[in-house]
Amino acid sequence: MTGSYPALRLRRTRSTAWSRSLHRETLLTPADLIWPLFVTEGTGVEEPIGSLPGVSRWSADGIVARAKEAVGLGIPCLALFPNTPREKRSDDGAEALNPDNLMCRAIRAIRDACGSDIGILTDVALDPYTSHGQDGLVNDAGYVVNDDTVAMLVDQAVNQAEAGADIVAPSDMMDGRIHAIRLALEMGGHHNVQIMSYAAKYASAFYGPFRDAVGSSGLLKGDKKAYQMDPANGEEALREVALDLAEGADSVMVKPGLPYLDIVRRVKERFEVPVFAYQVSGEYAMIEAAAAAGAGERDALVLETLMSFKRAGCSGVLTYHAPLAARLLHG
Ligand code: PBG
Repeated sequence: MTGSYPALRLRRTRSTAWSRSLHRETLLTPADLIWPLFVTEGTGVEEPIGSLPGVSRWSADGIVARAKEAVGLGIPCLALFPNTPREKRSDDGAEALNPDNLMCRAIRAIRDACGSDIGILTDVALDPYTSHGQDGLVNDAGYVVNDDTVAMLVDQAVNQAEAGADIVAPSDMMDGRIHAIRLALEMGGHHNVQIMSYAAKYASAFYGPFRDAVGSSGLLKGDKKAYQMDPANGEEALREVALDLAEGADSVMVKPGLPYLDIVRRVKERFEVPVFAYQVSGEYAMIEAAAAAGAGERDALVLETLMSFKRAGCSGVLTYHAPLAARLLHG
């Protein structure tokens, strides 16, 4: 070969649609998506969330309709978050343990309507139930205490499992909670209820719209830096994941998503376990804002970001764009 030709033309395989299709390394399907939904009291209620354009809170009947929609779209799992009425929030978040709370009623309604056609993932943390908006119990010094919080989380997880949750997902970042929850689930006979641990959850500025959605933003004093992780740390994320796996987590989550793709990759390479990412509310809002400003095309931005999670090593992604993405992927 003379020097006037490139040694190899990587563009050759990119030159036609069929060839790009043949060489595609990563597959994104509706089965990769988990759809987070916000539950509110009442019947026939839809409350749009201002900071999350296109996302609403739904009363249980609306949640059932969304569940059926998800089944139709091939989305395998929902993630539920309650907007607990103000008067049911308290210092200790005791409403989380009420077998008839909003979360449990929504779980049962979905189960009655959809049977085992869809997975139900529930959030284990106290922030939608506390009057101070923190994920756990706060002592006089304002510190979120670990072990007493874990005792509450254990009861909360068992309460959700009894209502019919398939996957309990602790998002609180207390130490030792995976072991304690696993033990209680086993002792309660919930041998097949999975734990997806929010193992590497960062103290992030990207959670703002979520806190509006569950009604905790106006209540929250201070921040969550004494339990959620420092965005500067990667090694520590690996330690968190190692611990949660040793304690019995079935899968682990990295959260937020796009700013932490390096963590997803490191976790996948180190542990070779199912890893999920949460493309959180602030990420959703950024995409929507970019689309609204004409700075990008929504559908393409959504699919490209979701593909990046799969490429980084995720088994699946929690995303508010799940129904849109599933529709786009169905063509
Ligand atoms: C709290 C929780 C948060 C999210 C999920 N569970 C917020 C927080 O830690 O303050 C955020 C999800 C999102 O922003 O979409 N237990």
